[in-house]
Amino acid sequence: MAFELSYPLFFLLLLLQLPFSTTAKAHKNISLGSSLNALNKDSFWTSPTEEFAFGFQEIGKHSFLLAIWFNKIPERTIVWSANGNNLVPKGSRVELTEDGQFRLIEFRTGKQIWYADFTGVVYAALLDTENFVMANRNSISLWESFDQPTDTILPTQTLNQGNILFSRYTETNYSRGRFQLTLQDDGNVIFNHDDSVYIESEDGVILRTILSNTFSMQDFYQRATLEYNGVLRYYYVYPKRTSSNMRSPRAWSTSSYIPSNICASISEETGSGACGFNSLCRQDDQGPSCHCPNGYSFIDPNDVLKGCKQDFVSRSCDKTSQETDHFHFEAMQNTDWPNSDYDHFQEVSEDWCRQECLGDCFCAVAIFKTSECWKKRVPLSNGLIDLSLGTKALMKMRKDNSTLK
Ligand SMILES: *[C@@H]1O[C@H](CO)[C@@H](O)[C@H](O)[C@H]1NC(C)=O
Ligand SMILES: *[C@@H]1O[C@H](CO)[C@@H](O)[C@H](O)[C@H]1NC(C)=O
Ligand SMILES: *[C@@H]1O[C@H](CO)[C@@H](O)[C@H](O)[C@H]1NC(C)=O
Repeated sequence: MAFELSYPLFFLLLLLQLPFSTTAKAHKNISLGSSLNALNKDSFWTSPTEEFAFGFQEIGKHSFLLAIWFNKIPERTIVWSANGNNLVPKGSRVELTEDGQFRLIEFRTGKQIWYADFTGVVYAALLDTENFVMANRNSISLWESFDQPTDTILPTQTLNQGNILFSRYTETNYSRGRFQLTLQDDGNVIFNHDDSVYIESEDGVILRTILSNTFSMQDFYQRATLEYNGVLRYYYVYPKRTSSNMRSPRAWSTSSYIPSNICASISEETGSGACGFNSLCRQDDQGPSCHCPNGYSFIDPNDVLKGCKQDFVSRSCDKTSQETDHFHFEAMQNTDWPNSDYDHFQEVSEDWCRQECLGDCFCAVAIFKTSECWKKRVPLSNGLIDLSLGTKALMKMRKDNSTLK
């Protein structure tokens, strides 16, 4: 399962009121010969204001991620990482060598896990835009983390045509996930000084505003992240400090995201849909979430996009088997798997629909709406729960669990 969310964009630009220059005007230079070891919570370099940090974060037990994060909030939210697919053990090292190479070396094996591709660097710095840059003698940046985004874009950051945002695998797993955001070549997206994101054509005409926001950069940390569930979410608010006239809690609050309903917008002939096979996708104010229907449970509760498995033994199709009595239905309102039907009947009653599915060993669920009946088989795909459906899903399942072993 891999989805490409293509927006009609050429250029995704986050541009806010910060003083910004592509040349590195850092107040803290990381000089040639500097290094950091993945040892403890304090293995990092900071930006001049110390609001941001570059270094190692421990992910799970004794595994370290080379990353950039918000340093003055308890969550230490990561906005960029180098080795999500390849965490390194304690004692590993990132170094800016005397001859100007920047690389991540694994402890013990000495293996180069990651490196920045450039020559002629004389110093590195984490800027107050949260951009990590490596610059030459004239302070011209040769390499920037902004040019190698992972799943997040930040104010003043530009996402060029060649750049791709990749979602992480799950909320806590920084491996490359199932969704990517690419930019098509017929427009630009700008995150401008009004703190909004909009699509702009190549000649600079605003075509459409995607996300908008009224919070200031001075008072709030901001970011936009392609989440593991495929939604590009614009987190506009994390108050930088607590103050009496600021009622927002000290936490990331979310506002807009695109697509507005991923459950409905990812629906194809093949593939599972926005959630995994046999799942149900539900969109609410908080965004999309994946659920299992009655009689099913997550294959891996830590990776809900993997889908759901039946918790009972399916009905045998053996001619001699008289199992019909062992099955019954549990109804779920406003639930459907639009692409999984193999049979359809009109002008029938709900009771007829139930009997039809019960007598059919292939039938996993019957969908009933007014006088129509659809029979569906597993694996069920593109499942969703939506009040507008008006359907009733009749989940066929075994009456007791005795045969499940
Ligand atoms: C950082 O290094 C550059 C290039 O050597 C130099 O021009 C600049 O003054 C340095 N900045 C600081 C604060 O040391
Ligand atoms: C993250 O998920 C991938 C894919 O399932 C897995 O191979 C990897 O081991 C996971 N990483 C961690 C740190 O659990
Ligand atoms: C079936 O299994 C589920 C989950 O283990 C349990 O909650 C439920 O009571 C069981 N039902 C019967 C009829 O044994």
